[in-house]
Amino acid sequence: MGMVRAASFLLLLALLAAADARRQKGGETACDKGWECSGSRFCCNETITDYFKAYQFEELFAKRNSSLAHATGFWDYQAFITAAALFEPRGFGTTGGREMSMKEVAAFLGHVGAKTSCGYSLADGGSLAWGLCYNHEMSPSQSYCDDSNELYRCAEGVEYYGRGALPVYWNYNYGIMGKGIKQDLLNHPELLEQNATLAFEAAIWRWMTPMKRKQPSAHDAFVGNWKPTKKDTLSKRYPGFGATMNILYGDAICGKGSIDNMNGIISHYQHYLDLMGVGAQHSGDNLDCADQVPFNPSSKSPDS
Ligand SMILES: *[C@@H]1O[C@H](CO)[C@@H](O)[C@H](O)[C@H]1NC(C)=O
Ligand SMILES: *[C@@H]1O[C@H](CO)[C@@H](O)[C@H](O)[C@H]1NC(C)=O
Ligand SMILES: *[C@@H]1O[C@H](CO)[C@@H](O)[C@H](O)[C@H]1NC(C)=O
Repeated sequence: MGMVRAASFLLLLALLAAADARRQKGGETACDKGWECSGSRFCCNETITDYFKAYQFEELFAKRNSSLAHATGFWDYQAFITAAALFEPRGFGTTGGREMSMKEVAAFLGHVGAKTSCGYSLADGGSLAWGLCYNHEMSPSQSYCDDSNELYRCAEGVEYYGRGALPVYWNYNYGIMGKGIKQDLLNHPELLEQNATLAFEAAIWRWMTPMKRKQPSAHDAFVGNWKPTKKDTLSKRYPGFGATMNILYGDAICGKGSIDNMNGIISHYQHYLDLMGVGAQHSGDNLDCADQVPFNPSSKSPDS
């Protein structure tokens, strides 16, 4: 190539590098996108829409509109993105560079896919293609009202069966979550099966919020913000996907050896990593929770 062409090529590289540096600096005025510029420490980081597109959502949840599914037409990409945007300034899908960010979205959606799946091994497309098949529990065996809870009393005529993207059960869990996302879920739990944005919002709130003080959120345990205490290491709790199952489901899933329910959640996570192009080989250390002692006893876990 000619000297002039080579020189202008170098100039272009230099300009690109400068633009890159400006993006990395994180100053309020340097960013050119929405929320990142409002003082969040994730300012200038990539957002979920940069690396997770509508077509990928369609691939992950390929069978959700099938005639056999139970929430046809309910779930969509935009609802997920709208809900996620509320939590991106706090680090959801924006922490630690592109690979970690993509892994976090795969991990979160892996939980969602496993919990809302109607797939079984002989299902069309395989059992992992059927996430977001449900938006509520089909045949609740009870109304999930704990009368002894004085803080979040059951509303009359309202049932608290499982609803949403990470199904919520019991009056007190609807109460706590409603406070978290500023919606009256105690009186209107049906919002989680009527509004996909709110269903995702509630689920991401759960992912981002510790169950108890001094415990990590699933987000923190996954992205590496959490440093295990001595007690944690003695309980075999280490950062990774396994700990997210421990936080979200406790002894319903964890500390029971290599059970199918646990493996099904891991399989969804790994399948989504493959579909997103990250690859299941990057699922990270401490993938399972087979030997972990639960953070909280079952009576306190939201899924019991
Ligand atoms: C499923 O339905 C939603 C909502 O109507 C739509 O946005 C989406 O494209 C559909 N996806 C598939 C895979 O059928
Ligand atoms: C994103 O934000 C976190 C927290 O401020 C930071 O550690 C990280 O380096 C940022 N950049 C990328 C590309 O993730
Ligand atoms: C779902 O809830 C959000 C947040 O309250 C609201 O902005 C939106 O309009 C609702 N969508 C529908 C379809 O009701």
